[in-house]
This record gives sequence, structure tokens and C-alpha cells, in this order.
Amino acid sequence: MSSGLKLQGRIKMLEHTLVLIKPDGVRRHLIGEILARLEKACLKIVAMKMVIPSPEIINTHYSEDIAKRRGEHVRKKLVNDFSNRPVVAVVFEGVSAIEVVRKIVGDTEPKKALPGTIRGDYGHYSFDYADVKNIALPNIIHASGNKQDAEREISIWFSKSELCSYKSIHEA
Ligand code: PPS
Repeated sequence: MSSGLKLQGRIKMLEHTLVLIKPDGVRRHLIGEILARLEKACLKIVAMKMVIPSPEIINTHYSEDIAKRRGEHVRKKLVNDFSNRPVVAVVFEGVSAIEVVRKIVGDTEPKKALPGTIRGDYGHYSFDYADVKNIALPNIIHASGNKQDAEREISIWFSKSELCSYKSIHEA
């Protein structure tokens, strides 16, 4: 394979993924730590903002699919706990970024998340605990699950013009 073709193949693997540092992560002052861990993996920030989202935005973000899989009560808890509170929305770019970010973030349930992952190192709560307390699971961070979700979620939080295109020092 010529080097030109190899490069084309690599560029096709470049993905964008959405990360939300949720209200519990913001209130615990974990923004810098989370961004540092992802940046140290050489993932590139191409958009970022702190916002206080409306219930409509959270409702759109956590789609019908979650209500089907987890129950409408879970979606209601997510809307209730994550709207009207500051969150940090970030778009990361990288090779297989969706999978890589999820690996660094760890299992959805902090109780199960492995040490070394963000949720494993900074949380311990379980689904059962969230159910008993009737709260959204405090798991610090959200990261897109697949390509389709990433595209849908990025378009909820950012307009196309807010995504910056630049070369990292090692790409230049
Ligand atoms: S995942 O990681 O996308 O597969 O997450 P999923 O299991 O589909 O869950 C979607 C979001 O719902 C939250 N969740 C809950 N909150 C409170 N109580 C219960 N029982 C519960 N079950 C799921 C979960 O944290 C997911 O939010 P994010 O922001 O993606 O972590």
C-alpha cells in the first residue's frame, strides 16, 4: 500500500465524540482532571463550552431509546437532575475517539468501573443506589456510545461553525 493510501485509511478512522462533564463532576471541581486525562491520551479538543442546559436540551440528549432500554423513570431523573445546572460540553477528535474515550471513562456504573478509569477513580455509586435515592446516577461524565449517537449528540450541543479545525503540534 502506498503511503498516500495508508494516510487516507488513517484519516477515515478520525472521529468526533461528545463528552459532557455532568453537574456532579463540575461541582466536584473535576473539570481540569478529566480534560487532562483525555488530552494526555493525545485526543484533541475541537470545541468546548460551559452551559446551563434547559430541560428540553437534556430531554433531547437522552433520547427515546434510553426510555425504551432503561425506562421512562430513568429519563425523567436524568432531565430532572441535569437540567438548569452547569455542565461542560466538549468535542474530542481522534483515531477511534468514540471507543477510546469510553475506555478512559470506564463502565457506566461507577461501582463496576475499573481503577484507572475516570469513573472508577472518582466514583463508586451503583444503579441500585440511584434507584433508591430516585436520582440520576452520579457518574461524573457522559461520553457518546457510538458513531450515530456521537453525530446526534454533537449537533445538540454545538453548531457546525463552533467546531475548530487545527493541527496539533505533532500533526503539523
Ligand atoms: S450507556 O453507557 O450509554 O450504555 O448508558 P445506559 O446504560 O444506556 O444509560 C443511559 C443513561 O442513563 C443513566 N442511567 C441511570 N440513571 C439513574 N438510575 C438508573 N437506574 C439508571 N440507569 C441508567 C446512565 O448513567 C446513562 O447516562 P450517561 O450520561 O450516558 O452515563
